[in-house]
Amino acid sequence: MSTLKGKVALVTGASRGIGASIAKRLGRDGASVAITYGASREKADEVVKSIEASGSRALAIKADNGDPQAVKSAVAQTVAQLGRLDILVNNAGIVHVALVGDFPEDQFERMLSVNVRGAFAATREAVKHMGEGGRIINIGSINSDLITYAGGSIYSLTKGAIAGFTHGLARELGPRGITVNNLQPGPVDTDMNPEEGGQFSASVKPLIALRRYGKVDEVAGLVSFLAGPEGAFITGANLRIDGGLSA
Ligand SMILES: NC(=O)c1ccc[n+]([C@@H]2O[C@H](COP(=O)([O-])OP(=O)(O)OC[C@H]3O[C@@H](n4cnc5c(N)ncnc54)[C@H](OP(=O)(O)O)[C@@H]3O)[C@@H](O)[C@H]2O)c1
Repeated sequence: MSTLKGKVALVTGASRGIGASIAKRLGRDGASVAITYGASREKADEVVKSIEASGSRALAIKADNGDPQAVKSAVAQTVAQLGRLDILVNNAGIVHVALVGDFPEDQFERMLSVNVRGAFAATREAVKHMGEGGRIINIGSINSDLITYAGGSIYSLTKGAIAGFTHGLARELGPRGITVNNLQPGPVDTDMNPEEGGQFSASVKPLIALRRYGKVDEVAGLVSFLAGPEGAFITGANLRIDGGLSA
């Protein structure tokens, strides 16, 4: 497949989980791909090797998504080393579960900073480089619309912010031919939310119409579609990919 030949993508938080799958898929689609990571350097290097093995250029950049200067620099390094920027996937995210009365201030700050300010910092820098056909794909969560457990209100808050950001950006960037969308995954089997033995698995699975967690590659497939030519008329959308959790 070469639907993204000649394009350059940056995927934040792509050493593991959904981000790693997205980065590899965009590489298989023909894009040159830069990824950021926070702590998992070896895993980030493995993602780079996998993308290179599929015939595309790749680059791993250590950049804490909670540090706007590091995120800004990651965008600059992507453009400097891969030549341009067409696709930004704001994927890096963390979750801390606690009831709101007990919610630690520092965890609140950290979640806002990584999940929301990081997406803002990457987008602010990326739009300086993007032209007609540009794509911004945010990884929000179904939890901005519905939540099945107590203790997730601050996570929902961050993902609600991403949904609102998406609408505003779509209006702002549409006239420049840049699309902006928000994917809202339901439970997806990753380190953050393991299907086997995870904190939420037993309670949430019966509520999912398909009675299973999503796979990272299923989310990556939707990102690939939005990033490619067939996704050109979709913008400002919150796209649920949740196995029918919200059906
Ligand atoms: N899994 C789900 O059920 C689910 C559902 C809906 C939405 N989501 C969203 O999907 C996105 C990916 O989640 P996931 O399940 O793949 O999570 P994950 O398995 O925990 O992986 C998170 C990725 O983000 C990176 N990351 C975390 N903090 C970072 C930071 N401060 N700076 C840079 N990179 C950072 C991690 O890299 P390092 O290890 O290198 O730090 C890792 O590559 C998140 O935004 C999450 O909220 C997940």
